[in-house]
Amino acid sequence: MAAQIIDGKAVSAKVKEEIRQEIERDKLEIGLAVVIVGDDPASRVYVNNKKKACEVCGIKSYEYALPAETTEAQLMELIDTLNDDDKVNGILVQLPLPKHLNEEAVIARISPLKDVDAFSASNVGKIMIGNYAFLPCTPAGCIELIHSTGIDVSGKECVVIGRSNIVGKPMAMLLLHENGTVTVCHSRTKNLAEVCRRADILVAAVGRPGFVTGDMVKPGAVVIDVGINRNADGKLCGDCVFDECAKKASWITPVPGGVGPMTIAMLMKNTVMAKRIQTAK
Ligand code: GUN
Repeated sequence: MAAQIIDGKAVSAKVKEEIRQEIERDKLEIGLAVVIVGDDPASRVYVNNKKKACEVCGIKSYEYALPAETTEAQLMELIDTLNDDDKVNGILVQLPLPKHLNEEAVIARISPLKDVDAFSASNVGKIMIGNYAFLPCTPAGCIELIHSTGIDVSGKECVVIGRSNIVGKPMAMLLLHENGTVTVCHSRTKNLAEVCRRADILVAAVGRPGFVTGDMVKPGAVVIDVGINRNADGKLCGDCVFDECAKKASWITPVPGGVGPMTIAMLMKNTVMAKRIQTAK
């Protein structure tokens, strides 16, 4: 039996439409600053997609495209200016940054009230204790996609492959908040395939094409593929061997058209939340 496809484009369009209606109804004036440093082509695509989503939702986007040689002091100065600008409710610094810039320090400089990626230590800490305003965009998008299948996470075996700060770790935390039994796998995990085969919900966030093969998927599992890679032919693909995994899973996300659009929809949600918390003060 072939898996049903989880249509991230459709789910994200619905979320964005709800946001658009909310902004129109409440006559909200919302601004998102999008900062990109250097000319990484993938980052350029993501930033363009984020700006397009702003337009769809009725959020004003302000792009700051800085040259790769930008110094940390210059970037910090821009962030300080944006922190003080009332028209800017959210600040997003597209990662990765060029190597000479310290990502952790740059993220720490963003006001926690405008940190719509939820990357800063204080926002990550809030996620840990379950008391948060901003959900991390990619993991929150994955949760929405799981919900869209009608499957309840509570009590399920959940396996997350990957332990990055922006996906694997917060993903594990959100699944835990939903009462999943969560295992996080990484490069030192022994018997990875065996651990993955236990998963009712398998989340792949490795960043390597073809990493998850059909034999790693439990029959009937929900497979969420967070990977955005290019294969040898330059074609966009996820971490999962789609055809093999789709034969075993009950539900699976495609790449493209799965998690990617959801990340952006969740960013829009956080930007509205930023406006709300800034004006409630
Ligand atoms: N680079 C890869 N994913 C993301 C993301 O969600 N936000 C930002 N700012 N950079 C990224």
